[in-house]
Formats: sequence, C-alpha cells, structure tokens
Amino acid sequence: MADKRFYITTPIYYVNGKPHIGHAYTSIAADAAARWQRARGRDVFFMTGTDEHGQKVLEKAVERGMTPVEHVDDMVVHWRAMMDDLGIAHDKFLRTTDADHIACVQATLQALFDKGEMYQATYTGWYSPAAERFWTEKDLVDGKCPDTGLPVQKVEETNWFFKMGAYQQRLIDHIQAHPGYIRPESRKNEVLGFLRKPLADLCISRPKTRMDWGIEIPFDRDYVTYVWFDALLNYVSGIGYAPGGSAPGFDATWPADFHLVGKDILTTHAVYWSTMLMAMELPLPGCIYAHGWWMSADGAKMSKSLGNTIDVDLLAGAFGVDAVRFFVLREIAFGADGQFSYEGFLNRYNADLANDLGNLAHRGLTMTRNWLGGTIPELGESTGFEAPLRALAADVVTRTAAAMDDLQFHAALAAIFELVGAGNKYVDDVAPWTLNKQGDTPKLATAVRTILEVSALAGALLSAFLPAKSAALLAKVGRSVDDGVADLQAALADGPTLARLVAGTVVDVGDPLFPRFREMPEAIAALFAAPEPAAAPPPAKASKPAPAPEKKPVTDTELPAEITIDDFAKVALRAGRVVAADRHPDADRLLVLQVDVGEEAPRQIVAGIASAFAPEDLVGRQVVVVVNLKPVKLRGVESRGMLLAAGGKQVVDLCGVNADPGTLIR
Ligand code: MSP
Repeated sequence: MADKRFYITTPIYYVNGKPHIGHAYTSIAADAAARWQRARGRDVFFMTGTDEHGQKVLEKAVERGMTPVEHVDDMVVHWRAMMDDLGIAHDKFLRTTDADHIACVQATLQALFDKGEMYQATYTGWYSPAAERFWTEKDLVDGKCPDTGLPVQKVEETNWFFKMGAYQQRLIDHIQAHPGYIRPESRKNEVLGFLRKPLADLCISRPKTRMDWGIEIPFDRDYVTYVWFDALLNYVSGIGYAPGGSAPGFDATWPADFHLVGKDILTTHAVYWSTMLMAMELPLPGCIYAHGWWMSADGAKMSKSLGNTIDVDLLAGAFGVDAVRFFVLREIAFGADGQFSYEGFLNRYNADLANDLGNLAHRGLTMTRNWLGGTIPELGESTGFEAPLRALAADVVTRTAAAMDDLQFHAALAAIFELVGAGNKYVDDVAPWTLNKQGDTPKLATAVRTILEVSALAGALLSAFLPAKSAALLAKVGRSVDDGVADLQAALADGPTLARLVAGTVVDVGDPLFPRFREMPEAIAALFAAPEPAAAPPPAKASKPAPAPEKKPVTDTELPAEITIDDFAKVALRAGRVVAADRHPDADRLLVLQVDVGEEAPRQIVAGIASAFAPEDLVGRQVVVVVNLKPVKLRGVESRGMLLAAGGKQVVDLCGVNADPGTLIR
C-alpha cells in the first residue's frame, strides 16, 4: 500500500464577513505545517474553504439586500484573496455550496437514517443565531447566549436528531486511549469535563419554514440540515467520501492527521464530529488541535462587531507577507492566546528579521563581495569555531523537525533563530575583518563560507514560514527553491554539513532582505493619527493604558472600606468542582485548574495556592468560585474566575460547599 498522505485541514470559514488576522492565523499555521511536510518529502493534502449555509449567512445576505447565492458568491472572493495574498498553498478550497459536497452530505444523511441513527422529536430550546446552536434555559447567562453574550430566540419545533448520546462512552474511551487526540492537554481536559455530564442527542435539522438556506434533508424535504452537520462533513466530502464507496485516493488520505481549529469550535469538532465519524464507521482523525485567540491590545477577542480586528492586508502591505506569517507563529505558542500590538510587531520584526537573520546574510554577502571577489569561496583552514557551530546546527535541525511534526511552530522558530544568533556570534568570535587585514585568506575563506552556509541553512529551514524571503535568500547564494528542499532533506537525513553551497558561484548582495523600520510604517502610523481638527482622542486600540493610581496595600487583618449590599450583590458566586489541576508552566506559586461550575465546559482558573496544595490533591474538590470576575492572564495563562480561600496571603484552605456545580451561592 502506498504511504498515507499527510492530510491537514483548517476550519471552513463563515462568509458572513471578511477575513481578519484571527482567520489568517489558522490558515498560516496549516500552511506552514503543510509546506514543511512537503519539503521533507511527504505527499500532502491541505484543505480549506468556506462555510456558506446557515442562519448567520442568510441574515447577512438579507441585510445586504442580496439573495444568499449572490451574497456567498460575492464574499468568497475575499476569502480566496486572503489565501492567495498570504501565500496559502492549499490543495483544495471547498465551498459547502459545491455540488459534490451537497451530494456527499445528502448521501451521508440518508445512510445514517437507513442505519437508524436519526429520529424525529419535538424540541423546545433557545437558539443562538450567532453561535448557530441551541441552548437550554439553564445554559443561558442573563438570558443571553453564554458563548457570544448575544440574544437568543425561543424555539419550539419538531426536528431530526442524531443519536449522538449513544456514542458518549466510546468517545471518552477514545480520548483516553489516544492522549494526542485533543490538544493541547488543557483542551482535552475541557472536553472530558464536558463529557462528564450526559451527552444529549444532536438536533441536525432546521424546518424550511424557519430557515431554508441549507442542504435539503433527503428523507424529509421539509427540512434543511443544521449548518454544523453540513460543514463538518467537508473534511471527508472534499477528498471523495461516499457512504456506498468512496473515490480512489480517499483511503490514502483519510483519516486527517490534523484538524486545526480555534478553541471556540472545539466542542463541535471533538464531540459532534467524532461521534458523527463513529456513526459513519470511519476512523477518527489523528489530532484535533485547538489554537488560542488573537486578542486586541486591550485584551478583548477580536471580532467584527467590536471593530477591533487587525487588517491583515494593511499589515502585510506595510511589513511584507512573510513578516506577518512569521510574527503570528513566533509570537505565541500554538494553543495559547496572544494580544496583538503594532509595537510588538515592529519590535519583533526589527529584532529577529532585520537585525538577526537579515543582518547575518547581509554580512556574509558583503564580505564575499568586498574581500573575495564576489564568489563563494572554497572552505579553507578551520578557525576553530566551526565545529561547535556545526554541532549546534545539527541540534537545531533535529529540534526544528520535532517541533514541526508536533505543530510547535514557535519552538521551531525559536530553534532556527538560535542558529541565526549563533551565526552572528560566530562572526564576532572569528572577526573576519581581522583575518582580512592580516591577509589570512585560508581562514577568511572558511569564515565567510561558513556565514553564507549558516544563512542558507536558516533559509532552507525557514521555507515553510517565509516562502518568498527564503527563496530570495537562497537565490542570493545561487540556490534555487528545489536546492533548498534538497539541502533541507539532506540536513534532516544526515545532519547539516555547512558545506552545501557551490564554490565559485557569484553572490547577489542586493538590498537587505528585511529593511529595518526605525519608526512605524506610515500606513500604520496613520491609523493612530489624531483626526482633524485634533480634538478627538486616538482610537481605543492605539491608546496606552493610563497608569493605575497608586494603591495602598491592604494587609490581611486590616478592614477595607464598608460596602453596601448592592456592592456585594455584584459578586456572582457559584459552587464548583475541580476536574483537573496542573502546575503553571511559568510560575511556581500558581496552579492552573479546570473547574466545573455547571456550564457547558469547565472554566480555567489560575490560583495562587501552589504553596498549600499539590495539583493531584485538588481534583474532585468542591469549591466556591467568583464567576463574574473579568478574565485576566496570569503569567500568560488565561484565568476566568477566582476560588475563595482562607488565610489571606498565606493560603491555608479552600472554601468548599457541598452542592452541585453551578449552584448559586448567596
Ligand atoms: N464555520 C465555522 C467552522 C466550521 S469547520 C467545519 C466557523 N467559522 S469562523 O469563520 O467563525 O471561524 C473560523 C476560525 O477562525 C475558527 O477556528 C476561529 O477560532 C478562528 N478565529 C476567529 N477569530 C479568531 C481570533 N480572534 N483569533 C484566532 N482565531 C480566531 O467557526
């Protein structure tokens, strides 16, 4: 049998708006992983696309005075352009309005119906158009959708249901038997926490009388299928799945190695999709990887409705596409949230791309031109500094490959830039300018050649992240993109030799790869310019937070000022149960807990109680939680709530209550 293809997917994007940096993020990550696997010689299939049915899209079409078809045909252009502009080299762009996708969804629905996996029932619930899902009364927060905070509609209707609940135990068993199935680990715990409650069946239809923009259910033509049931099937419809017999190639491609998703759509993938696959008798994917969110500088999730999104076109226009690709993957660990700021972008660009990588290459190239007649020299006599550099290069190649197979993009980039940093240090240690002055040509040749070799190796390792700049860097030392791939494969197989370039090749010095920005590029600075006349304050995303007023510390025994009962009533307390606990990766004092407070998924709470409790002692413990505390990040980890504890600064015990998670405490 031929080797299994490496199959990676992004979510398919709703066409109710234009793309922003959050969407670009998933696409860039998947593209970097796909490019890396291709470069190392694997057969890759990378699929992406657009999710074009459902209430949200329909509402947008109505708002724009268009038919749904006109609207989606118009919007999809922006999504294709985003992919093209960012160099996303997908193998397929699927639209859920494609005829073969529709045929696959209908055939799958029919097959599941024939197998007895579907039944009809009358249902009453609260529908959130923004999240495209139903909630029970108890799920609502202040009468609103708990995911989006937006209004819900009460709906009582007869619908079709998929017997999802029947697969609950099989799903738990699968997750436990395959520790890498849901990643990162904290998200796996969240899903297992969700699965502790009985799993309800999934409503998979919408009566056409309420919403007809969807795929018609073949066994009941009064209904269309629920948008998630339609959308999730893209992962198999796009590679030729058919219940009766799939297209050639399907078996070599499915199961997917990685489904990349944002953390907001983890349940739909980990629970709905996994159980759908079980019912369809297909193997489950290797890994569902939930990444974090890009937040605005003030810590809010970016969204169109808040108007705080970052325009990727503008950013790429100002700094270059590859700089955007590099920044989003280097800045935060894949899985964690990150706050976007233009200053942060500028600083990282200058430090890593201009000062480190660009500078190393430019130094080697100008030395070649100025001292060695502009051609790549043969390696001469050792300066004594090459062997340690080669050893580090070997280690970096190994670490990069391990990190890329594991989607740890930031770790891969950190490793590559360690090599770049070592290359710059090599220049300082060897001091080629002194060798040149002394006329020590054998050592000078080695030094300059080694600088060029390290630059070229970094270029080859970076090709998945910086496709255009990597090609430009390699071209400067006479290497084509294919040569770069061969260099990478050789380095992976046998270790880097730092002797791959061809002596005698004329180098092309040209301009530095990454020009340094002494100040913010004009197009971005203009965003922050005071409007004329200069009366209005700068937009919120530009403003620096005002310095906090100095606070007098309150000691453990000192009584703070009195509050009224109304002040106290603002604090929402609920009973909770700890379902998982870990040490904080970056702070000895802190533990990271997953606490069931009666919501759909447990909440992550970071608590300063590590001096009093070991994580394993806390699992199962009943606690009291402040649930309406504004989320904060403690040493980079998001915390959504606070536990009540006794003992002030020196915690001695946790407050507990013998009540079901979610019970109101007054
Ligand atoms: N259509 C569904 C997915 C169906 S997949 C079978 C959907 N679409 S979406 O357009 O709303 O979101 C697509 C992806 O973009 C999600 O993974 C979501 O997490 C991601 N992002 C949207 N905003 C984001 C940020 N601010 N930051 C990072 N990613 C976020 O959901």
